[in-house]
Amino acid sequence: MKTKNYYITTPIYYPSGKPHMGHAYSSIIADVIARYKRLEGYKVYFLTGTDEHGLKIQREAEKNKKKTQIFCDELSKKFKELTKILNLSNNDFIRTTEKRHYNSVEDLWNKLVESGDIYLDKYKGWYSVSDEAYYDSDEIEDKNNCKVSIVSGSKVEWVEEESYFFKLSSWSKKLLEHYKSNPGFILPVSRNNEVVKFVEKGLKDLSVSRTSFSWGIPVPKNKKHVIYVWLDALTNYLSAINYPDTSSDLYKEFWPADLHIIGKDILRFHAIYWPAFLMAAKLPLPKRIFGHGWILSDEKKMSKSLGNILDPIDIIEKYGIDQLRYYLIKEVSLGNDGNISLENLKNCINNDLANNYGNLCQRVFSFIKKNCENKIPKSNDFSKNDKALTNKLKNNVQKLNELINRQDLNNYIKQVIEHSFDSNKYFNDSEPWSLKKTDTKKMYSVLHSIVEQIKNISILLLPIIPDSANKILDIINVDKNLRIISEINKNNNLNHDKELGNIEILFRKVE
Ligand code: MSP
Repeated sequence: MKTKNYYITTPIYYPSGKPHMGHAYSSIIADVIARYKRLEGYKVYFLTGTDEHGLKIQREAEKNKKKTQIFCDELSKKFKELTKILNLSNNDFIRTTEKRHYNSVEDLWNKLVESGDIYLDKYKGWYSVSDEAYYDSDEIEDKNNCKVSIVSGSKVEWVEEESYFFKLSSWSKKLLEHYKSNPGFILPVSRNNEVVKFVEKGLKDLSVSRTSFSWGIPVPKNKKHVIYVWLDALTNYLSAINYPDTSSDLYKEFWPADLHIIGKDILRFHAIYWPAFLMAAKLPLPKRIFGHGWILSDEKKMSKSLGNILDPIDIIEKYGIDQLRYYLIKEVSLGNDGNISLENLKNCINNDLANNYGNLCQRVFSFIKKNCENKIPKSNDFSKNDKALTNKLKNNVQKLNELINRQDLNNYIKQVIEHSFDSNKYFNDSEPWSLKKTDTKKMYSVLHSIVEQIKNISILLLPIIPDSANKILDIINVDKNLRIISEINKNNNLNHDKELGNIEILFRKVE
């Protein structure tokens, strides 16, 4: 059977400061999808990394009185450490200062030159170092005697220098055609509309090199210039899979990428520049770009000056990684901005994890330990109610799968936890403690059904809370290879012979 491949990426982060909740959010979204696709049987390549060139990084290193490379090494290490702390299942971590990336960017540049899409001229206009973006005059405004970008609010400065340009203007029509014939290329739909509107106004050629600083990849055959950091950064998605070696297995298996997860702030770069570069280089385009919304704290964008920054590492130390992963995915509807707060995090841990899923497992396992010699009872005679419970979940698997494939993680999690809620209710209503005295056969069928249900819920929760869901599956002795989506619809595949593993409290209630 031919293996199904799936390539998913996060944005590569600027190592200009320590990682924050916004970075953690993008990475967790991508990780949940990567893990789910693996459970679905795909061979997944999941990439993340750091974007280390450009004036923003050079200036930040100067401010910190460090050599730029050393500055990047130190901060990139923090992002790499974060992948472990967040329990990401990434296959690779790319740094744009690596040799493999230089080769790839140089090759792409040469392709753009060969296709006649690059020419030398002079750039005159506004530039935001913080966004590493060029802005037109109608995209900036005056604020406190400063010129700032209307969209991002970041300061812009006037730039006049010799520059290579990419003929972006000549790609407007092709881009519009592509958006039209590939619905779902940019999601959510609102972001697609935003991009289409922007491109319909007509695109200007894009400055793709700078001469006023040196921290970047030199333009081949003209070392006075360094390549624009976004052309450099976007190419990471190719470098990691061995481009320009298009005959390598990795490239053949994984390009074009299936999904670039990004924040809405970097939509223009991914949905306009990136496909235009690729078309010009005659390379296939990624299948989807998903622009998620902002994480807000106390209804505001997190910022140092507002003092509302929630540090992912502090939160994980205090509440646990699965708790944070679950909360972020449940609380924020992917695509929209979402407010997060410690108060809501605590409520979510208590209501969903401790009182619902955690409690369900705890009480069922304890009951089995006390009343069934610590082994899952086996039944061949299920009641209407037993079947109603387990079938409801089984019949929902296809729909849950569609939710993931639409990146609707928020509704996925809500539905999965609803099944756990149903199961708790079913356990209460069935009263196995009374059945013990009156009808042990029926008690067995209730317990058998409910453990099957716990198994299935836990498989569905694996992408979101991998550590905790695996612990539950360990307790009920589910074979590691059978922790996959296709097992959910199989009947009679619990281990009834082995005693349950030690029961521990997975989710402590928080005050
Ligand atoms: N280096 C570029 C990306 C290059 S990709 C080829 C960049 N880096 S970044 O570090 O500034 O931010 C990357 C991403 O972090 C954003 O696109 C977004 O996905 C995420 N977030 C940063 N702050 C955020 C929030 N407050 N909320 C949600 N995500 C945000 O841009």
